[in-house]
Amino acid sequence: MHRRALLTALLVSALFGGCKPSAGAGAASTGDIVIGHFTSMTGNTAHFGQDTDKAVRLAVDEVNAAGGVLGRQVKVVTLDDRGDSAEASNAVTRLIDVEHASAIIGEVASSLSLAGAPVAQRRKVPMVSPSSTNPKVTQVGDMIFRVCFLDPFQGAVMAKFAKDQLKVTRVAVLKDVKNDYSLGLAAAFIKSFKELGGEVVIEQSYSAGDTDFSAQVTAIKGADVQAIYLPGYYAEVAVIARTAERLGLKIPLLGGDGWDAPDLLKIGGTALEGSYFSNHFALDTSTPRAKKFVEDFTKKYGQPPTGLGALGYDAALVVMDAMKRAGSAEPAKLRDALAATKDLDAVTGKITIDPERNAKKSAVIIKITGGALKYEASVEP
Ligand code: PHE
Repeated sequence: MHRRALLTALLVSALFGGCKPSAGAGAASTGDIVIGHFTSMTGNTAHFGQDTDKAVRLAVDEVNAAGGVLGRQVKVVTLDDRGDSAEASNAVTRLIDVEHASAIIGEVASSLSLAGAPVAQRRKVPMVSPSSTNPKVTQVGDMIFRVCFLDPFQGAVMAKFAKDQLKVTRVAVLKDVKNDYSLGLAAAFIKSFKELGGEVVIEQSYSAGDTDFSAQVTAIKGADVQAIYLPGYYAEVAVIARTAERLGLKIPLLGGDGWDAPDLLKIGGTALEGSYFSNHFALDTSTPRAKKFVEDFTKKYGQPPTGLGALGYDAALVVMDAMKRAGSAEPAKLRDALAATKDLDAVTGKITIDPERNAKKSAVIIKITGGALKYEASVEP
């Protein structure tokens, strides 16, 4: 936001804050409806934020062009948390207290959703994470929702695929100890893989932001495994893949949705050939709804979306659909309507919010082959 706009917003809220209608934490009942978006537009996971924000704006622009919601236009205010927890919680505070958001969309990364969610919960403004998959996120409270599947499912999907399709029985696990998502997904995979009779021979770890992974890869190389489960984010995964290639370790790497960014292949290159990851969406298997989204997104932004975009679009659809059904953008009413979301026709499938405020969704498995991402399989929950 521009400095001047921020000052004006602060001034306006200082002058008129007391006279506002008592709608939730301060959402206005006339004028534009504000949806706040907190996300990583810059930093180590900038792709997560950028792709999601583009898609949120695409969904909102389409609805506004068709007349808006409840006769009002919807305005998206995006704050960049730079992938930092303290920034994420500050961003949610500002979106609610200064921007008077009726609802919050965010975050992508589970650790950052966990930083922002307590703020939304305390201020009683609903928050919808498009793509945070760690179970703890929606457990923060009754204001916190998500539109994607959860990691116990995602981990089990890859464990089963590795065991049954790749016929792998001995694996290594390499996880990011600074990342709630990575820790949760590693635990989920290990539990499922062992239940299927597989063996996790060695576990290694790193911290987000590390650049040298040769010690871990060397240890794994000495352990005689057939694959490495690597539930991290794309920036480190790409470098780890290159390290494995350089050290002559030629086994498939297996991962989750955190791999989903163009930089994965740009940086990882040939080192990722024959690797697989689970995801929310595959560009090359499209329902008519998904096809239209991919076309519209590509036309508007000059590049195709990733799974992040698909979920960002869906999060915005879910929020605007709830506003329509609630007949109001007041946070408390919106919360109840969000909780009642049923069979909403969205890009990543039909969305129904369950009593734990999660969505049940299918997963896809993507294979990296010929330097591209190819749809391999779908797994129903
Ligand atoms: N699921 C990841 C998390 O919870 C975030 C993510 C979603 C990353 C989708 C990429 C694609 O941290």
